[in-house]
Amino acid sequence: MIQVNNLLANNLQIKLAKKLYWDNDVEGYVIFLNENFKSAADLEKVEKEFYPNVTSILRKHKFKGKVGQSFALTGLRNKKLIQLIFIGVGKTDPAWTKELENRRRAVGAAVLKLKKLEVESAIVQIPDYKPFGVEQPELLKQMAIAASMADYEFKTFKSDRREKEQACTLFFATNVFATNVFATDGKECQERESALEEAIIISTAINQTRLLADMPPNIATPTYVSEEAKKIAVDIMGLKCTIFGRERAQELGMGGFLSVDSGSEQEGKFVVLEYTAKTKDAPVIALVGKGVTFDSGGISLKPASHMGGMKFDMSGAAAVIGTMSSIAQLKPEVNVIGVMPLVENMPSGRSNKQDDIITFMNGKTAEILNTDAEGRLILADALCYAEKFYKPDVMIDIATLTGGCLYALGHSYTALMTTDAKLSGQLQNSSDLTGDRVWPLPFDEDFKGAIKSDIADISNTGKATYKAGTITAGWFLSNFVDKPAWAHLDIAGTADSVPGVNYLGSGATGVGVRLLVDFVLNYKK
Ligand code: BES
Ligand code: MN
Ligand code: ZN
Repeated sequence: MIQVNNLLANNLQIKLAKKLYWDNDVEGYVIFLNENFKSAADLEKVEKEFYPNVTSILRKHKFKGKVGQSFALTGLRNKKLIQLIFIGVGKTDPAWTKELENRRRAVGAAVLKLKKLEVESAIVQIPDYKPFGVEQPELLKQMAIAASMADYEFKTFKSDRREKEQACTLFFATNVFATNVFATDGKECQERESALEEAIIISTAINQTRLLADMPPNIATPTYVSEEAKKIAVDIMGLKCTIFGRERAQELGMGGFLSVDSGSEQEGKFVVLEYTAKTKDAPVIALVGKGVTFDSGGISLKPASHMGGMKFDMSGAAAVIGTMSSIAQLKPEVNVIGVMPLVENMPSGRSNKQDDIITFMNGKTAEILNTDAEGRLILADALCYAEKFYKPDVMIDIATLTGGCLYALGHSYTALMTTDAKLSGQLQNSSDLTGDRVWPLPFDEDFKGAIKSDIADISNTGKATYKAGTITAGWFLSNFVDKPAWAHLDIAGTADSVPGVNYLGSGATGVGVRLLVDFVLNYKK
């Protein structure tokens, strides 16, 4: 069996620079430039003191400073060959969230360029924080996370690329020629060091999440994913892991989980990860992630054109694993429960069918009109389970739930559905800061009529006349949440294959980890 964690390419190291920019003995010097070199004081100085005509060289090569554009120049410094790497950060945007995102993509471009050039060490200029709406340590943290995310590649099955490649160390410093490099001791330094430590914990978890989601479905079965969760709990002190299968699910009356699970040769697994805060009576947050390791559609089989990529249908569960791993290391004063129903949705003589009526853990019944609307069936029982055994103050579920979400929001925004204004605000704050973006859909009771059934409590698909399948799926789930404040995140568009964002790569994105970790760390009742 392939060892996932061992194959996580951790080639990128990030440290704080302890010397002035040019005094660092490195191979690469990364310099960020605005579009059309506006406010390019750094560039002028490079030109004057080090590399004459650099501006005209950049212009000659049509380097304009657009976000993520890169250009490398080789130079000689102290008798050593060095690489000057210019990276565009685009136009200054009045919105700090946009500025921050542009900077993430600039850092992403820098990492990709450094890797391509096989540069072993580089100094990266971290800008002044004021335009970014965040404090310097936070900016540093955001940049470090983006850099590590850009380093991720899924190469487990590329036989020629599996070996460790050129390692690279990045040194983060402030403005190129400024004398105010990061302090080397004292409180400020401490803050920055711990921001960097947090970034490394979070980005490692994000990349673990991505590796798990990228794994092919013949390997990443429910059992495999549950064992990965357990491994993380064994590695990190203070994370408790409980796993059960069909038998216990039957005792608990999880008719939704069992209905989807019934068609597969691979037994479904129900996984619970628990992090307990030191403080007594700390608030409780439950995170519930959809874990369909492959979604064929079941008896309501998907056409081949829609089935490819359905290994990513466990991205919600993978995000919960990554979040729990981060939380257990960052140790906030909040209790966090991660709940992951893991199944494979397959057609067979034993699988569920259209017209079936099933009974969930809370006694409610649903008519199955389409076995491809399976995510809501397993999440229903998972939400019941989390509420019954943990009485959370807040529940958030995260799921690649509906194809319609892609039509509504594309790949850039996760759909947020909630009726709780405070929770919505808290999640949107985390979205602004982390770049793990959410956008609220109107979660209005008007859509509730779509899932009415004549012969059961509800039906598992919304009536065609209502359209808005993403929202009606959310209302389906609302039947399984009683007391806690609750939000539903549909990541069907954001979990994988996001175009145009360099640090997200081409496969799994690890969506949700940045958002949920930040949400938990800042949670106030
Ligand atoms: N896993 C899919 C949703 C999905 C589709 C995620 C495309 C990512 C990309 C989900 O289980 C599903 O099949 N949903 C159906 C529901 C329908 C049958 C009511 C959908 O959205 O088409
Ligand atoms: Mn489906
Ligand atoms: Zn699905």
